[in-house]
Amino acid sequence: MSTIKINDKVFNISITHEMIQEGVKRVADEINKDYKGRKPLLLGVLNGSFMFTADLMKNLDIECEISFVKFSSYEGTDTTGNVRQLIGLTESIKGRDIIIVEDIVDTGLTMQKILDILTVDEPQSIAIASLILKPARLKVPVYVKYSVFNIPDRFIVGYGLDYDGLGRNLPNIYEVVE
Ligand code: IMP
Ligand code: MG
Repeated sequence: MSTIKINDKVFNISITHEMIQEGVKRVADEINKDYKGRKPLLLGVLNGSFMFTADLMKNLDIECEISFVKFSSYEGTDTTGNVRQLIGLTESIKGRDIIIVEDIVDTGLTMQKILDILTVDEPQSIAIASLILKPARLKVPVYVKYSVFNIPDRFIVGYGLDYDGLGRNLPNIYEVVE
C-alpha cells in the first residue's frame, strides 16, 4: 500500500522495506569492519529501535552483545524537549565499546541525555547508530557515526516508528502528507 491513514493523518510511502534492508546491511558491514575483535555492546533505545536493532544485529558477524534502555520525549508529532528515563541499564558498561542503536535522531535531545547518563559509567567508547537522521532538526551537536538514512524535516512512521503509538508494525517507512 502506498498511502495509509493513522488517526487524523495521511502518510505516503517514503522508504520501502527493501531499501531499508539494503541500508541496514551497509551500516552493519561498516560496524563489522570497525569493531572486529572489540566485542561491542549494542544498546537499543526502546520502543522505536526494536526492528532496526534486530535487523542490524542479524547482519553483524562479529562477537557482540545487546541490551535495551527506554526513554520518553515525544507526544504526537512534536518533541516536548522533556526527556525521561523509564528503563535503565542493569549491567556495567565500564570499559566497554558501546553502540547506541536509535530509530531516529531528531532534535538530538534524547541522544544527548543518553550520552550524559552513559558517560558517567566510563565506557571505553560510545558511537551512535541511527536508522534515520533529520539533520535540519538537530538542536544540539550530536555526532551520529552510523546513519542509514538522512531525511528532510518530515514526520515519518513505520518499521518501529510510531504516530501516537500506531504504525510501528509497518514494514515500510511512510511520511506525513501536510
Ligand atoms: P529527539 O529527542 O528530538 O531527537 O527525538 C527522539 C525521539 O523522538 C525518537 O527516538 C523518536 O522516538 C521520536 N521521533 C522523532 N521524530 C520522529 C518521527 O518523524 N516519527 C516518529 N517518531 C519520531
Ligand atoms: Mg526513539
